[in-house]
Amino acid sequence: MKKILAVCWLIFVILACFSKKETPVTNITVQELIALFGLQPHPEGGYYKETYRAKGTIAKNALPDVFQGDRNYSTAIYYLLPEGTKSQLHRLSSDEVFHFYLGDPLTVVEITPAGKIKKTILGQDVKAGQSLQYIVRAGNWFGAYPNQGSRFSLIGATVAPGFDFQDFELGNRLDLLKQFPHAKEVIELLGH
Ligand code: GUN
Repeated sequence: MKKILAVCWLIFVILACFSKKETPVTNITVQELIALFGLQPHPEGGYYKETYRAKGTIAKNALPDVFQGDRNYSTAIYYLLPEGTKSQLHRLSSDEVFHFYLGDPLTVVEITPAGKIKKTILGQDVKAGQSLQYIVRAGNWFGAYPNQGSRFSLIGATVAPGFDFQDFELGNRLDLLKQFPHAKEVIELLGH
């Protein structure tokens, strides 16, 4: 009897191992993600869809001078960076919070106003030091690229005060090279 139970248990374990399915989401393609979330090309590169815009607004006169109008309290987007694409260097007037959702790791590169270069890997491998969440401070130049071998990275990006293209500046490669000559490699890779 014990032998029969042991054999049944063994068969059960073997079947369980072989029937272990990958979660369907690991098979999703870039085109499926674009269609599923209604993503649009972003001027900096990659694809995005705004998912949230707070109804409330903050009056211009209550905001710092960098904001040239009223702004919603906060906004959020999905942002997709497929293999072979990049987010070109740009800067915002608000801090931007990134959340890693799906896919493979990407590297966020920043140049601070003082010229410090920072690289941060967003991804799920938290044991290897990858970040699930990362904040880029307002005023830092930043861009991103999928890591070697990454098929795509799908992240979220939240800003407060809310996003407005008036507060978005794409970096000009030549201007950035003049200001940050030591960051030539980064600027040539991600400059506009
Ligand atoms: N809405 C449109 N573009 C952007 C962006 O780059 N970041 C955020 N947070 N919202 C956006």
